[in-house]
Amino acid sequence: MEEKSKQETPWYKNAVIYELYVRGFQDGNKDGRGDFWGLISRLDYLVDLGVDCIWLMPIYPSPGKDDGYDITDYYGVSPEYGTIEDFRSLLYQAHGRGLKVIGELVLNHTSDQHRWFREAKKGPGSAYFDFYVWSDTPEKYKDARIIFSDLETSNWTYCKENGLYYWHRFFYHQPDLNYENPKVREEMIRVIRYWLDMGLDGFRVDAVPYLYEGEGTSCENLPETHAFIKEIRSIIDREYPGALLLAEANQWPEDLVRYFGEGDEFHMAFNFPLMPRLFMALRQEHHGPIVDIMKRLPKIPESCQWAMFLRNHDEMTLELVTDEERDYMFHVYAEDKQMRLNKGIRRRLAPLLGNDRKKIELLNAILFTLPGTPVIYYGDEIGMGDNIFLGDRNGVRTPMHWNDNKNAGFSEAQPSRLYAPVITDPVYNFNSINVEEDKNNKSSLLNWLKHFLFIRKTFPAFGRGSLNFIYPDNKKILVYLIEHEDVKLLCVFNLSASSQPVEINLQSLRGYTPIEIIGATIFPAIGELPYLLTPNGYGYYIFNLME
Ligand code: NOJ
Ligand code: CA
Repeated sequence: MEEKSKQETPWYKNAVIYELYVRGFQDGNKDGRGDFWGLISRLDYLVDLGVDCIWLMPIYPSPGKDDGYDITDYYGVSPEYGTIEDFRSLLYQAHGRGLKVIGELVLNHTSDQHRWFREAKKGPGSAYFDFYVWSDTPEKYKDARIIFSDLETSNWTYCKENGLYYWHRFFYHQPDLNYENPKVREEMIRVIRYWLDMGLDGFRVDAVPYLYEGEGTSCENLPETHAFIKEIRSIIDREYPGALLLAEANQWPEDLVRYFGEGDEFHMAFNFPLMPRLFMALRQEHHGPIVDIMKRLPKIPESCQWAMFLRNHDEMTLELVTDEERDYMFHVYAEDKQMRLNKGIRRRLAPLLGNDRKKIELLNAILFTLPGTPVIYYGDEIGMGDNIFLGDRNGVRTPMHWNDNKNAGFSEAQPSRLYAPVITDPVYNFNSINVEEDKNNKSSLLNWLKHFLFIRKTFPAFGRGSLNFIYPDNKKILVYLIEHEDVKLLCVFNLSASSQPVEINLQSLRGYTPIEIIGATIFPAIGELPYLLTPNGYGYYIFNLME
């Protein structure tokens, strides 16, 4: 029975995912830009870190106006990264090390340089005209918001060639595909099969909510979008069991959970509602924001899983908070306006947290223990800094710091050839913030994180268990119990800067002995009285409760 349940647990439930920007990871041919050869040479680092799956930002041919999310050919790879054969080698090398690889599936839009759009622009006579969404007025779909609000003023752009307007939810150079057209749906299913046939292990599916439009609606989360996702999922289940579909749907809980369907849409979805509230709770020194949102998240189907993240390649989005909360977050985390973009903050994890090691550990510890699969953004494991003077979101996509050699070990090219400069500001200088330095320092962030991931692996309950909050009177303390089969894990976090006393009511667990699992320390057994703990500022305990 035990064996059976183990076999049935999908791989993504106990995985750790690492998001990586190929251009920024490792240059293998000295042209100043990362590539597949470079990445292959760094796979052992990822295995050593304890990662199970790498998520590659777009690798397709692209004019690069949105870092590859503007695709011109869904069947190729960008020549700067290598050839399709090199990509196959990457898959082979990753799989040989037990690593899964997921890619990007950008369904919603193409580049305006895509052959389909160049043909479509010729007008209604073109075979590809109906691949996109056209109108003779920009007044349609007025209820749809503008997502890149700092960069675009309308979701419609006028096409000089045919005198019509085309629809786009993102940049003007990313026309939305028309999913009403069955040919578009067929084309994208062909793309999915192509990559999964090659051996890719799944997709992070970009911009999911926007596939269909409807007058008088927000043009998000329409039933037709769900129907198409169900169709994709049924193909996966039938032809590619084990492949992962991970949704990028930046939506409020009620709309977001619908992307799991009844276990027949996405396997996983990013927990967008939780993410900003982790930062909010820390700043407010109050468990409320975390507890409230987690309680508002409806239960998800058994086979589904949350993707838990602190930061990614975009700005830290603050769309899913109230206007007041956003003002607060801007005030406390991005006082300099240069750090803001759209409705978000374009900073990496360490600078956001004032490079405070204790805060960085605390947020990661929460992330790694709440039910879900953690997703680490490249460079954040060593506390890399950012460069807010690079435009758009480029400041969080600078080259990985490997060592203190030329170009931080990222590339042997002339420094001025790099696609972006390495970080040289004093606090985050690559001379001190780099993988080699962290590896050699036992108490480094990298080694802490590696140890934590290792511990997490030894307790599958973290990925799969049920979550129950416990409410101490001291609201600066976050407490929850994770239970899975016979395992009970008690997690206690001090969200404040100072030491705190906390009495936790553990009556139902009387007689259990808490063992702190990071240091393997035995604590006094739980008795009649509330359990007293006194965590240091930003301190935490992760206990295994033994009977
Ligand atoms: C979401 C991606 O994360 C972001 O980087 C991109 O700009 C938009 N989708 C448009 O594809
Ligand atoms: Ca290169």
